[in-house]
Amino acid sequence: MSLPRFAKRISGWAAVLPAVLLPLAACLTAPAAMADSQPLQPRSMLPAYQQECAACHLAYPPGLLPARSWNHLMGGLDRHYGTDASLDPAAVQQISQWLQANAGTYKRVQEAPPEDRITRSAWFQRKHRELDATVWRQASVKSAANCAACHTRAEQGRFDEDELRFPAGLDARYRRAFQD
Ligand code: HEC
Ligand code: HEC
Repeated sequence: MSLPRFAKRISGWAAVLPAVLLPLAACLTAPAAMADSQPLQPRSMLPAYQQECAACHLAYPPGLLPARSWNHLMGGLDRHYGTDASLDPAAVQQISQWLQANAGTYKRVQEAPPEDRITRSAWFQRKHRELDATVWRQASVKSAANCAACHTRAEQGRFDEDELRFPAGLDARYRRAFQD
């Protein structure tokens, strides 16, 4: 299942970061713990989720939000970030259940972020601290929620640092964030 893998992955960052930050400056090789990470998407994708929740954006990996956030979000699809994403009750129930079952449980994902946004999670902001509002507003990016603008394999639930692309038109000063 994906949850232990995601847990391992996040705890992996935590465990290796202090040890690698300094040597990293002098060393271009990514630490193994980050390089050979596993996809975050559950092994078996619910077809209804792919069908209903990936029409306007990525089918976000369920492990990126806690059950509470998914629950809350699924309860208000008629007012979904300024749009109406309503579904019939049976679909809501099926997708909700699957999201609950595959939600993030690791400590860092447990806290429900503001607005049920992955992009407002503390871990997200930490991972993207070298980027700022200018980047998210770039025409080729549009929003922090548009993961695939930079993460070439986001559709497969992969967010590895070596699978990044530098969005067109972005100021060169941000290049470092994409390279280290
Ligand atoms: C009609 C289009 C539409 C559909 C269908 C839709 N969404 Fe969204 N969703 C949006 C928009 C618009 C946003 C805000 C994106 C932004 O801020 O750039 C959003 C944002 C989100 C976010 C927060 C992203 C972040 O971290 O900022 C999550 C989580 C999400 N949607 C889950 C779902 C789920 C689950 C479903 C299926 C039940 C779904 N969406 C279906 C339009 C849609
Ligand atoms: C504008 C480009 C951009 C967008 C959009 C973006 N990211 Fe990232 N992301 C990056 C960069 C650059 C890094 C590497 C940061 C660093 O190492 O300094 C990163 C790092 C990450 C990491 C850590 C990877 C690792 O191996 O440590 C995760 C997980 C991640 N992003 C998830 C997401 C998700 C989920 C979304 C969408 C909700 C998203 N990102 C949107 C650019 C982006």
